[in-house]
Amino acid sequence: MLSHTSHMSVVISLGGSMVNGTGNPDLAFLKKFKSLLKGKENIGIVVGGGKLARDYVKAASNFSKNQFWGDSLAVQATRLNAALVTRVFKEEACPVVFQDFESAALASKEYRIVVMGGTIPGITTDTDAVLLAEAMDAKRLINISNVDGVYDSDPRKNKKAKMFKKMSYTQLMGLANASDTRKPGTNFVFDVIACKLAARTKMELHFVGGKNILDLSKALKGQPHRGTTIRGP
Ligand SMILES: Nc1ncnc2c1ncn2[C@@H]1O[C@H](COP(=O)(O)OP(=O)(O)OP(=O)(O)O)[C@@H](O)[C@H]1O
Ligand SMILES: [Mg+2]
Repeated sequence: MLSHTSHMSVVISLGGSMVNGTGNPDLAFLKKFKSLLKGKENIGIVVGGGKLARDYVKAASNFSKNQFWGDSLAVQATRLNAALVTRVFKEEACPVVFQDFESAALASKEYRIVVMGGTIPGITTDTDAVLLAEAMDAKRLINISNVDGVYDSDPRKNKKAKMFKKMSYTQLMGLANASDTRKPGTNFVFDVIACKLAARTKMELHFVGGKNILDLSKALKGQPHRGTTIRGP
């Protein structure tokens, strides 16, 4: 029996900065996050690596600067964070952390919530989230991170950075192009491949700050929120 086919699908790219931003899982955040996903939507969650991934990338860099292996370790870290998220939603989520989109999309017909971490080196969890959204025919993707939206430059480096309420895929791509070095563990808001894939599908993108987590309920419905929304060209 396929139980969730009639409900709208949404994918959440859950920044590792929220799940494990300090080296320890953020339980207060995870509990709040759980309480906000009580609706009927069919949800795919792709979890990032956070501090855990950065620590392992850094440790491994003492032995080799090879970027592939840095990324490979980071993927494993995202999967540990993702496994924790399956425990948070133990009643409704499939307990498997999927490593491919087809299996995740298939399981989402049976479970309300499916969870993934990263997939392969060189591909970020932002890109994985867009691909999962395509596979699940999700109308929108919500990115939750430790910034409240997309700025015209890194707000941690530039105090005068301004946040976009609305922007286009093209604008986002321009920003991503400037900051996305594709090195493991870099901090940026959304990567270039993710932008291109979202644009090809014209998927709605919502950037919501983990601290404004109540906005998640609004973003889930496609309603206005305090973060950044991308709907057009
Ligand atoms: N134009 C920008 N707008 C917003 N944030 C930016 C921008 N450029 C760089 N950043 C940085 O990106 C950071 C968020 O990305 P980061 O990779 O650290 O978190 P995440 O993606 O939530 O976590 P993870 O990568 O572990 O999944 C912000 O803290 C901010 O400093
Ligand atoms: Mg990131």
